Amino acid sequence: MTADTPAALESRIIRARARLEGFGQGHLLTFWNQLSRPEQLALLQQCEALPLEALPRATEVSMASHRTSTDLAPAEIVPHTPLGSERYRAHGATMIAAGQVACFTVAGGQGTRLGWEGPKGTFAATPVTGKSLFHLFAESILATRRKFGGMVRWYIMTSPLNHDETMRYFDSHDWFELGESTVRLFMQGTLPSLAHDGKILLATPGSIALSPDGHGGAIRALAGSGALEEMRTHGIETLSYFQVDNPLARAVDPLFLGLHAIHPESSAEVSSKVVPKRNASEKVGVFCRRGARTEVVEYSDLPPELAEATRPDGGLLHWAGSIAIHAFSRRFLEGLADGAGQLPLHRALKRVPCVDLSTGAVIEPATPNAIKLEAFIFDAVPLASKPLVYETTRDEEFAPIKNADGDDSPATSRTAQSERGARWLEQCGVPVPRRARDGAAEARIEISPLTALCPEDLGAPASCLGTILPGSTIVL
Ligand code: UTP
Repeated sequence: MTADTPAALESRIIRARARLEGFGQGHLLTFWNQLSRPEQLALLQQCEALPLEALPRATEVSMASHRTSTDLAPAEIVPHTPLGSERYRAHGATMIAAGQVACFTVAGGQGTRLGWEGPKGTFAATPVTGKSLFHLFAESILATRRKFGGMVRWYIMTSPLNHDETMRYFDSHDWFELGESTVRLFMQGTLPSLAHDGKILLATPGSIALSPDGHGGAIRALAGSGALEEMRTHGIETLSYFQVDNPLARAVDPLFLGLHAIHPESSAEVSSKVVPKRNASEKVGVFCRRGARTEVVEYSDLPPELAEATRPDGGLLHWAGSIAIHAFSRRFLEGLADGAGQLPLHRALKRVPCVDLSTGAVIEPATPNAIKLEAFIFDAVPLASKPLVYETTRDEEFAPIKNADGDDSPATSRTAQSERGARWLEQCGVPVPRRARDGAAEARIEISPLTALCPEDLGAPASCLGTILPGSTIVL
């Protein structure tokens, strides 16, 4: 890129200042005269890239703007192991073998609750060998290619905050034998954090407080990076979507893909997996119906009376918790990217270090001081004509790593992974010692996806195992 002439630069600055002032954001240039030329240029670029038209105006920034959600009914759900499962599974297998399926992982989050310094995908997740999340999913994709005989490409969304480190991680692990050209990393966009009066915060006197624009930023990023275009040239029709922090997610599930593609209740645009919520207060989105539309209501938007409402049999009325596993048709995403549907921006109250405009000093707030804006991928669900929602089992497919300890932590996830391994062995006729008190497996078990993607793959390796003694460690 050639540098601007002084006159061209001056007119860029004038335009940027006028635009910022027009949106009540002129304060972003408060420290302009104290910045070096390179700092000025960097700030100018950030200001020019701000999607000011899309940001809520000061008057709309209030956190009390949750939608009223009282007109919600439970969503219709395809039950676990539906009639004709074998036909759907076979169809999914055909899609994979034909190279029509790619994996899509969102890995641009900041992992603040976990407190892990690097990209979350580099976190050591498995119960015995401590493989990273990226490594585990890479093995899953490699095993899927070998089992079904089709190329399964992998698209990974990073953010400007972790892209380079993620790239280096894959490079230094030789792309986990997948082949560099079959894995594509691309960056999502960012959005500014706002003060309660709608003013954009400065992170330093010369830079704006920006954070990733949420997993819903995937639509724009897939299109803008050329990834959707590339998929089209490779004949990819369906994306198997999962989040980087759920080691139990099946990277590619033939049954789910088959249901998505040919179930009579599916328009094959977007399909989603759900599990029964652990309890009324579990922090997962819930699939509901609003009129004719199926949508996901984020837990923070679901009024307590609805979250706690029960059916006559005592179960939760709104039980269908989202586990953030979806199948998307490429064409559907292309339509969204072309503007058929803009995903709304949600607001979250967070602690964001920011500059005190009167002194230029950076403040580390002790309590939440800012509003972060994020788009959520599940807001694409109501934009599909017939989204399919499929019930699966938590123990088999959902053990996310969100928090450093307590629920949804590395410890609970590793136990869930080991328990799943124990069940798979038992299904193959291998007895696993279990505690009388609570039935927990008394062995630590880790099964690589390269050994088995499902219990049916485990027959031969399991038959070589001797007796499993209490306290032992099994790696297959
Ligand atoms: P979460 O919001 O649950 O987790 O994202 P996080 O962002 O990693 O961690 P916290 O909230 O800061 O503690 C769920 C999934 O969505 C991805 C994450 O990487 C994770 O796989 N994500 C989230 C993005 O790709 N981009 C985002 O802007 C936000």
